[in-house]
Amino acid sequence: DEEDRTERIESARERLGDDVVVLGHNYQRREIVEHADFVGDSYELSKRAAAADAEYVVFCGVTFMAESADVITDDDQTVILPSMEASCPMAGMAEALQVDTAWEELTAAAPDSEIVPVTYMNSYADLKAFCADQGGLVCTSSNAHEAFEYALDRGDTVLFLPDKHLGENTAHRLGMADAIAEWDPWDPDSKDAAAVAKADVILWDGYCQVHERFTADHVASVRERFDDANVIVHPECRREVVEAADVVGSTATIRETVADADPGDTWAIGTEIHLAEHLGRWHPEVNVVPLCGDACMDCNAMRQVDPNYLTWVLEELVAGEARNVIEVPEREAELAGLAIERMLEL
Ligand code: 13P
Ligand code: SF4
Repeated sequence: DEEDRTERIESARERLGDDVVVLGHNYQRREIVEHADFVGDSYELSKRAAAADAEYVVFCGVTFMAESADVITDDDQTVILPSMEASCPMAGMAEALQVDTAWEELTAAAPDSEIVPVTYMNSYADLKAFCADQGGLVCTSSNAHEAFEYALDRGDTVLFLPDKHLGENTAHRLGMADAIAEWDPWDPDSKDAAAVAKADVILWDGYCQVHERFTADHVASVRERFDDANVIVHPECRREVVEAADVVGSTATIRETVADADPGDTWAIGTEIHLAEHLGRWHPEVNVVPLCGDACMDCNAMRQVDPNYLTWVLEELVAGEARNVIEVPEREAELAGLAIERMLEL
């Protein structure tokens, strides 16, 4: 039972001492975040991983985050992902091989434009490496607008991967809504070379199924239910949802906003359900409601990190075995590291 498991986790952590740091993403379930040394958004976690001295970084999140942690940490540090099944479907929507082919098509379609690729943190290390190689960089939901500016300082057009919604929302924020082209690598008939040649922003056709679920009707309905409702959503939501919301931001911004709310305020949360649940627990004085009520989803990838797996990887470390190690090949790690470094310097 949970009590038993908590005791086992605490006893393993006590024996491991400073050799281990446990990082948890905001979407992890309660039984995980309670054992994490630090809980945060992708950007904060990448900085925490970079600053960690511990020999083992146990990363309670998804594969692309653990890969990034491995890229950022020193060679003598080991990154462990409690479940090897924790793969973000959006990251899988832009495979490096597929992007290589698209790159040829796009550069042929726009021979007079210098295209600079920007990839969302939610992508695998080989795609991050590709972006660095082509003069581009990585961004998270907190700094996508700055990454666009970096790219446009060095070229004419941004190719943004994999999340079309974050890309579209960022283009709107920068006043570039009229200069967007879309690129669907799965549909040859939709590829419009003329639109690409004219565009300042090209959006790859990826999305997050957890965030695509939110609609403008959810926002209208929560405003009907609560006169004073404030609505905050993640920028992976559709454009119509972001437009209807009061605030848009990363999971860290969502946390900070609710932490600063006045007692009795109502905040409707448009993101993964575990974060809405944590906020309700952490701030009982605020009326925290999930934006789409019972229909809000959890992230299937984040859910793979079962607390029993956390117990297992920690107990194995006590026994001298590092399990579920995430190791990015050296050359790829070098280039992916460069793409992340460019982001950290923004
Ligand atoms: P944050 O960078 O806001 O933590 O988001 C990561 C993520 O996977 C959102 O779906
Ligand atoms: Fe990927 Fe969406 Fe899960 Fe974030 S919430 S890890 S983007 S599937």
